[in-house]
Amino acid sequence: MRIAIASDHGGYDQKGPIAAYLEDQGHDVTDFGPHDASSVDYPDYADPVARAVATGKADRGILICGTGIGMALVADKVSGVRAAPIQNVNFAHLFRQHNNGNVLCLSGRFVSLEDNERIIDEFLTTEFEGGRHVARVEKVMREDDPDFGGVAR
Ligand code: RB5
Repeated sequence: MRIAIASDHGGYDQKGPIAAYLEDQGHDVTDFGPHDASSVDYPDYADPVARAVATGKADRGILICGTGIGMALVADKVSGVRAAPIQNVNFAHLFRQHNNGNVLCLSGRFVSLEDNERIIDEFLTTEFEGGRHVARVEKVMREDDPDFGGVAR
């Protein structure tokens, strides 16, 4: 799988090991930085990963900040992206199965590297369930349309 990855300083320590973990599994990883542990602004790193996924240059995105929250806030604003901060394997499973999530946002400060690797495994191996979730995800995505007036069913 083509995976775009980035962090801020809060996720920097885990980014290298996670990229190596993915490469060991045979994934094609593009690292959008940062390339040292200096303090940076997470929107500058979430944006290129989200755009890589939205434009089809990457199949999935993985973003790591202190909590995963800031990264998800940014990535979700890019059309075509479904991002969420995920802290455990059950949520990773449902994020794929129900929400067809394509950008995984991890916490580098509150979740261990080992636990994040298990979360990543689940994110990369769980299929979207389809069925009743298709129309719901389509309704999520229509919020990307600037002409959508809201709440139409
Ligand atoms: C950086 O201090 C921190 O705010 C950031 O890593 C992230 O947790 C934001 O949501």
